Amino acid sequence: MPQHVAFIMDGNGRWAKARGMPRLEGHRQGVESVRKVCEQLVREGIPYATFYAFSTENWKRSQEEVGGLFKLFRLYFGKELGKLGEQGVRVRFIGARDKERLGADIVAMMEEAEAKTAGNTKLTALFAINYGGRDEIVRAARKLAAESGEIDEARFGDALDTAGVPDVDLMIRTSGEQRLSNFLLWQLAYAELVFTKVAWPDFGAEELQSALDDFMGRERRFGGVVENMGG
Ligand code: FPP
Repeated sequence: MPQHVAFIMDGNGRWAKARGMPRLEGHRQGVESVRKVCEQLVREGIPYATFYAFSTENWKRSQEEVGGLFKLFRLYFGKELGKLGEQGVRVRFIGARDKERLGADIVAMMEEAEAKTAGNTKLTALFAINYGGRDEIVRAARKLAAESGEIDEARFGDALDTAGVPDVDLMIRTSGEQRLSNFLLWQLAYAELVFTKVAWPDFGAEELQSALDDFMGRERRFGGVVENMGG
């Protein structure tokens, strides 16, 4: 079983448009998918998950959509993250915690959710907000440059936002696009990638199960060779 599954929750806008609804409705439905997926991960005993909610590149979207997404975060964070907390989920955020860009109230909500759920152990759910893989690596490098001592992979990993979280085993991207879009560049080094045509608002337990089955059927060699496989 994978220990860490990461999700690029793509296709919310297209899902809504295909139904004659505003794009934001797709994001709203996407929040439901996050809840369903977390429930399933808890049932499967998978300890870590990361969800790409807002990238450093997403600021390029229309003011209306960015504003709408943050309104959604404001509306849902308290309620949804509270529900996740009740289910034993520990909530963490990764990405640049920039109060000026995100808003001090959002950052306060993030900190509150992290503090309230810090003791939970069923699943650690990381939400990537104002996140970019290169930005995370540069911030880690800056941090290390200000300190002294040898730098190795372990120490570099500890300087990343995902400190203490194992590498991603399985990355799932919905809605047909096959690219990484600056997501967890360091942590995906040996991940298995699964791309599905299903849009994120339609992604649920069944789709997750099929991705897990796919993952379990793959042979992972981490650059080595597999011996004693019986020919
Ligand atoms: C990509 O779809 C999705 C996003 C940019 C936002 C995803 C955010 C959520 C689902 C909310 C997360 C919820 C919590 C509780 C943190 P898109 O807009 O790029 O879709 P498109 O490619 O069809 O346009």
